[in-house]
Amino acid sequence: MTRLTSLRLTSGLPAGDAAALFVFEDETAFRRQTRAVCRMTGLPQHPFRRGGFSGKPLEELTLYPVTGKTRILLVIGLGKSKELTFERLRRAAATAAKTARSAGAKTLVLLEPDPDLLPKSGIGADADLWQNTGLALGEGAALSLYRFDRYLSREQNKVRPLRSVAVASGSPRRTKIEKGLKLASVICEGTCFARDLENAPGNEIYPETLARHAAAGRKQGLRVRIFDERRIKALKMGGLLGVGRGSVHPPRFIIMEHNSAASRRGTVVLVGKGVTFDSGGISIKPSAGMAEMKMDMSGAAAVIATMQTAARLKLGVHLVGLVPATENMPGGGALKPGDILRHHNGKTSEIDNTDAEGRLILADALSYAGRFKPDLVVDLATLTGACVVALGHHATGMLGNDDTLMSRLSEAGERTYERVWKLPMFEEYEKLIKSDVADVKNTGGRWAGAITAALFLKRFIGKYPWIHLDIAGTAMLEESLDYIPRGGTGVGVRLLIDFLRHWKKP
Ligand code: BES
Ligand code: MN
Ligand code: ZN
Repeated sequence: MTRLTSLRLTSGLPAGDAAALFVFEDETAFRRQTRAVCRMTGLPQHPFRRGGFSGKPLEELTLYPVTGKTRILLVIGLGKSKELTFERLRRAAATAAKTARSAGAKTLVLLEPDPDLLPKSGIGADADLWQNTGLALGEGAALSLYRFDRYLSREQNKVRPLRSVAVASGSPRRTKIEKGLKLASVICEGTCFARDLENAPGNEIYPETLARHAAAGRKQGLRVRIFDERRIKALKMGGLLGVGRGSVHPPRFIIMEHNSAASRRGTVVLVGKGVTFDSGGISIKPSAGMAEMKMDMSGAAAVIATMQTAARLKLGVHLVGLVPATENMPGGGALKPGDILRHHNGKTSEIDNTDAEGRLILADALSYAGRFKPDLVVDLATLTGACVVALGHHATGMLGNDDTLMSRLSEAGERTYERVWKLPMFEEYEKLIKSDVADVKNTGGRWAGAITAALFLKRFIGKYPWIHLDIAGTAMLEESLDYIPRGGTGVGVRLLIDFLRHWKKP
């Protein structure tokens, strides 16, 4: 909940708090930059190499200047200039922000990386170099300072927040950096909103309250419709109804729309799995680690946050967000193994395991998506433990039916570092989900679990290009990464916004 409240451009160092200087490891650059540090701090020449500091990536040195007004000067290594990436800038900004916060600073100024020292190739050749630099520095700082501390009483909450981060920049680059920072601030608010939804406990977020958060997007200009059980029944969404029956909280089907009048630049539908808590149902999960399943609505969180962010950025594409929202609980009305459901498109599925519930509700949403005549449908779901086994926490699994669009999403993944990795959908896997009594079975046995789940979904898509993202491994972390604190990551928001900013109607 604690988040950065101000991310902006500045022309100089403020009086008082912290500043961060990014230095390269290259010999001459290092000498020049450390000399500047000496001037700023009043330190004698070259204490760096002797102190063991050489500007390696994310190496840091905290100095307390004896001259000037800055109380804390952080020197952060950027490594070799030739090897500089935007991801390295994100991490460097995150390092600066976190260290400044633990040093008790309230405000931090990041000094832009020296333009004369940037490489001519690599990111130095990027047409949007300075906007993307502002974006990366802003993202690193804003995302790293996020904390979910809404439920901590004041005495328990020891961390003093760093409220404001600014980037100091020379005049020719100022407007571009400022644009990047503004973009970062909107996108990071979206990401942190998604993180809040993921981290919030299941007794706070259930289908009705998730729908209320989606409906708040009306303030951003989204058109939002919330379908209750009656409408869901009328739409014959047997998967969503079936999974919802085990819970005292009724299911909801959420429809968000941005730019509904203008589909000239194409229509993209986003679908997010909204299981607000996944106990497994009658095929109940072991209790150890079950608490983590409050994040089984991470796909929904990403879609809801992306819709609001797209509206704020006024992206020029017709965007639709669909969220089937339900709990998966073992109540008296719950689905049973052996049950057969009929989905929105009329196809039937045999329930082999009630814990494979995500695909049942996505089946309805994906077939409903067809009515928007989409140029692309992307679904995001914490769908399978198998995907976590395959890819761990550093890549989202990607499957789909359109290689061109998948490689474009891959590029967005490289740019944002929310990387996706393609898995195959060879038809030989199909027999694993064959059912004797229904059109398809909801589990595929022990092997290739992420693939058989995607093949199940494939039965319910219409005639449209489709990409499925399995975010089971990337939506929540047990251990913090550079700018991703442990817990919900908000994965998908930066990825989709970047993809949509580069979107062209095929
Ligand atoms: N929500 C889980 C998948 C999951 C696992 C998400 C770990 C995040 C971390 C999903 O509903 C599930 O239970 N999948 C089962 C499917 C199986 C029964 C075919 C799984 O992966 O074990
Ligand atoms: Mn499950
Ligand atoms: Zn689930």
